[in-house]
Amino acid sequence: MVRFPDAPVFAGFNRPMRFEGDLYDVEVVQGEVPRQLDGTFYRVQLDPQYPAKAGDDMPFNWDGMVTSFRFEDGHVDFRSRYVRTPRFVAERAARRALFGSYRNPFTDDPSVAGMVRGLANTNVYFHGGRLLAAKEDSPPIELDPETLDTIGPFDWGGALTSVTATAHPKVDPVTGELVFFGYAATGEATPDVAYYEADATGKVVHEAWFQVPYPAMIHDFAVSEHFVVFPIIPLVMDLDRLRAGGAAFAWDPEREIYLGVLPRKGGGDEVVWHRASNRFASHIMNAFDDGRHVHVDTPVGRTSAFPFFPDLSGKPFDPLATSAYLSRWTVDTEGAPGIGERRLLEAPGEFPRMDDRFATRPYRFGAMALTDVPGDSRFGPPTGAYRIVAAVDPESGRVDAYSPGPRSTPQEPCFVPRAPDAPEGDGYLLVVVGRLDEVRSDLVVLDARDVAAGPLATVALPFRLRYGLHGNWVDRAVLDGRSRSGAAPGTGGGGR
Ligand SMILES: [Fe+2]
Repeated sequence: MVRFPDAPVFAGFNRPMRFEGDLYDVEVVQGEVPRQLDGTFYRVQLDPQYPAKAGDDMPFNWDGMVTSFRFEDGHVDFRSRYVRTPRFVAERAARRALFGSYRNPFTDDPSVAGMVRGLANTNVYFHGGRLLAAKEDSPPIELDPETLDTIGPFDWGGALTSVTATAHPKVDPVTGELVFFGYAATGEATPDVAYYEADATGKVVHEAWFQVPYPAMIHDFAVSEHFVVFPIIPLVMDLDRLRAGGAAFAWDPEREIYLGVLPRKGGGDEVVWHRASNRFASHIMNAFDDGRHVHVDTPVGRTSAFPFFPDLSGKPFDPLATSAYLSRWTVDTEGAPGIGERRLLEAPGEFPRMDDRFATRPYRFGAMALTDVPGDSRFGPPTGAYRIVAAVDPESGRVDAYSPGPRSTPQEPCFVPRAPDAPEGDGYLLVVVGRLDEVRSDLVVLDARDVAAGPLATVALPFRLRYGLHGNWVDRAVLDGRSRSGAAPGTGGGGR
């Protein structure tokens, strides 16, 4: 028998769906779906198959359910499938949870000791002809791009020597290379990081190992034309705490942050650590360099955005203190160690994305989910929740914003260029929007050059989608080819 605990995390719009389905030709209730959209928008959402063994739980510990929206000639077909991770398969066979707390193998049922704990619930990306569902504690899981059926764990033909691989790899749009890494690379709470680059076909061509100043969550990283940057933010990991059954991560408000900078395809002994005072950041919008100065654009907040990881100072969680503002970190690789920081936007938000054809290079277009646009009377007082979708210019600070309305929750926007050779930022934003009062979800299509005008089309699902993390668009030409030729500029397959 399945019964989820009576807890807010499982209540209302947040109730688990646990539903896999296909919906052909989803109703378009407003506008017209642009016919230029020819491909598939993949995303992954968090949806627990069974209540956690640990009782209390957090969404990051839930199973990955991949959804696809296939666009063709103004029509949209929907599909959703659980990723059959080894963990999902084992729990389905047992008809109960076998795994315990988030990222804590010491809380698991003895029957699954040593099994890979990955949930494939964080991102789904396409590279080298493969669709991969990823979570940062394990190797990715390869899926069939058409059926979303699970093919199995993928380890780059045995070249993945780390036990983990990031869910936020980057594709260099000029070379088609996938740049990625694993942290806690020799086991939970270890200080080891493995950095890899794979060529456009998915063959690993570079590997380097180094150690971090302290073990911590390295959720995302930054890649520019000539450099790779690893942010060490004090969501710290501690083996003793894990052994005692405690939280995998805790916020340490006393620790400095570090940026580990090394040349692209550099060796582990080339990492230089730059320090700054305590602050929080999670996702990277983009990075670029002039050969000497590396710029990393990321929303920066005063403290951890995650209420479910304890604060080592004992301070209670304060949602108002978590507001993050897109900022630019700059490191001079030939000057004194240190991190410059400049705020780029006055509107707080997260889930930064961009036109991936310009990743690793100077750029002018980003997209985000915002909690507020100060001074814009259209949106009313902030609630702390993501309620606004925006295209932004990181150079001028311009914000082009749209609210899907009260009691509506936008997820991460995904940019799709209007054509492979369209100018930067000329295209569409695809955004899943939860309609809390109607208890269902829409996919809205926005003109990325006029977001404030509202949706070009609203694709209405007659059911709700779970809270999702990340996703990517893949052009039909790339899917049809499956040529393993990698992601050429403008053909999708961004590695966010
Ligand atoms: Fe993420």
